Amino acid sequence: MRSLLALSAALIAPLALVACGDASTSAADEAPKAPPPPAPTEAEKVAMLAALPAPYDAGDLENGRRAFARCRSCHTITPGGPNMAGPNLYGVFGRQAGALDKYGYSHALRSAGFTWDADKLDHWLENPRTFLPGNKMTFAGLRDATDRRDVIAFLKMETGYKPETTEAAAAATAPAS
Ligand code: HEC
Repeated sequence: MRSLLALSAALIAPLALVACGDASTSAADEAPKAPPPPAPTEAEKVAMLAALPAPYDAGDLENGRRAFARCRSCHTITPGGPNMAGPNLYGVFGRQAGALDKYGYSHALRSAGFTWDADKLDHWLENPRTFLPGNKMTFAGLRDATDRRDVIAFLKMETGYKPETTEAAAAATAPAS
């Protein structure tokens, strides 16, 4: 009996090792390259909101959250969140349009050749179809400018937006007036 147990343990152990090995490599493949920074506190969000360029500094985050309910069926916004019908939106500000490797974009979006900022997002959300013909986001758009302002402010708070890497960089390259 004892030798049987030992034998089965000897047979199972290498299998278990193989299984663990597979699990850890695929988990490593899925893991984001750098651990995301901790989510901002409420006080930090208030300060971040106030520091946004107009009109987003006047954004109503609660209304933005409500407006984003219309996007949630297709988009996640958490770091490393899954792509659903639409791509994960964490880090979207300052990101090249159509740039996530693991998401199957339309040719139109993948080859759009611009970087997402508030202004681009505002036009996209106003009317996705006319902003970029041939894209596959089947969403009628947010016609209300206040809803767009608020959802953009909300997304800036929730998707790891860093003013120093987007607006500041744009300001640094903009011609002095
Ligand atoms: C019915 C599903 C659906 C809804 C609702 C939807 N989207 Fe999308 N979204 C998509 C799809 C699909 C794409 C990819 C489009 C393509 O590849 O042409 C996309 C792409 C995007 C992109 C481009 C991302 C990138 O990586 O370039 C942004 C930004 C975006 N959506 C924001 C929003 C916001 C904000 C809302 C809500 C106001 C919203 N979407 C609502 C399906 C949706």
